[in-house]
Amino acid sequence: MAVAIGFGQSAAFSKALLFLHRSGRRSFTAFSAPYSSSATAASSSSAFSSADKLRSQKWRAPVASVLERGGVKIARDDVVRDEPTNNIPDTIFTKLGQQLHRRNQHPIGILKNAIYDYFDSNYENKFDKFDDLCPIVTVKQNFDDVLVPADHVSRSYNDTYYIDPQTVLRCHTSAHQAELLSMGHKKFLVTGDVYRRDSIDATHYPVFHQMEGVRVFSPNDWELSGQDGTAYAAEDLKKCLEGLARHLFGAVEMRWIDTYFPFTDPSFELEIYFQEKWLEVLGCGVTEQEILKRSGNSNNVAWAFGLGLERLAMVLFDIPDIRLFWSTDERFTSQFSEGQLGVKFKPFSKFPPCYKDMSFWINESFTENNLCEVIRGIAGDLVEEVCLIDDFTNKKGMTSHCYRIAYRSMERSLTDEEINELQWNVREQVESKLKVVLR
Ligand code: DAH
Repeated sequence: MAVAIGFGQSAAFSKALLFLHRSGRRSFTAFSAPYSSSATAASSSSAFSSADKLRSQKWRAPVASVLERGGVKIARDDVVRDEPTNNIPDTIFTKLGQQLHRRNQHPIGILKNAIYDYFDSNYENKFDKFDDLCPIVTVKQNFDDVLVPADHVSRSYNDTYYIDPQTVLRCHTSAHQAELLSMGHKKFLVTGDVYRRDSIDATHYPVFHQMEGVRVFSPNDWELSGQDGTAYAAEDLKKCLEGLARHLFGAVEMRWIDTYFPFTDPSFELEIYFQEKWLEVLGCGVTEQEILKRSGNSNNVAWAFGLGLERLAMVLFDIPDIRLFWSTDERFTSQFSEGQLGVKFKPFSKFPPCYKDMSFWINESFTENNLCEVIRGIAGDLVEEVCLIDDFTNKKGMTSHCYRIAYRSMERSLTDEEINELQWNVREQVESKLKVVLR
């Protein structure tokens, strides 16, 4: 699997950031074919049966039944349900409502505010800002309203967290575009936590933060320019985002790459040359006319962009592991202050990793995302990486995978005893939940 084996930044990042990029781009593994919703509903039910849930609770801290943080009130029973069509573990429920992007002294909040500053100082009529929209959205909002095709891989239970067949944890802030356009907003920024089932490594975490920007033009904006609406919007978009990149990164080299998103045409990615690498900064484009038409903006043209805040914050603040954003250790939190973009993080220690390998015969419904969910359910943030190190099929057609799990705490040394216990539980639960045969 491309991501876990190499730490190639751009490959690793692009998977998490722009998963709606092209259909199939996220079905990156030869061994985890994309599933239809119904097929994975069944596989996730076997992955999370009630007995398993009970058993796994032993290994977790007790979970509060209602989260009430940052103005968001969400009951556990509204989100985590023991039903085949629900694939949300407690580890994800505890992240709802934490809202790192609303903490002014947290790198994610500092970056959000720096982007706000750029828009506030460059646009007289300010962009409307939303950073408290509920992450629980309908399938319609998350996918249909932004024209994601019915068979797109991102809709699968393997990739998205479903509360029930009609309700998901948003997997991108684009989920709010259509409703805000329908409400009449013409310039807006939406920041929020987004959720994706994924593999495990230093740049992937099942919860991260995005910012979405949209600007609508009316005919008198472009008529005098001699350009058509689309060309005018595309030019304005590029100018705006190049300015944003300079605001955040200084005088960097940039390039535009043509790409595909379901909700824009034409679509682009902006890359900057930073620390000797091309870094993908964001995805954007001219909004599909169908989205504008449905929202009562038939005569208008608009642009939109979406960017991943962790990805940019890791580079700007030199944060080496995405788990650190969730750390409550003072040695992390005390290093950042309001308004200070790009203060370099000083690692307070590097504790040794401990590697454990496990091999098993997979079955048809096996996916790496399901495996990673089980491992995270037991080891939480102590798991640093899960990496496929061997893969073969025998004469009988049975396929074996060997995974190497790296355990490492950001905050302390782990004892052998603790790791052995974790690994023992991982083996037991991987076997019982994923119905694979350990070797
Ligand atoms: N929603 C996209 C993603 O998560 C990012 C994105 C790309 C948002 C292009 C946009 C856009 O608004 O125009 O991968």
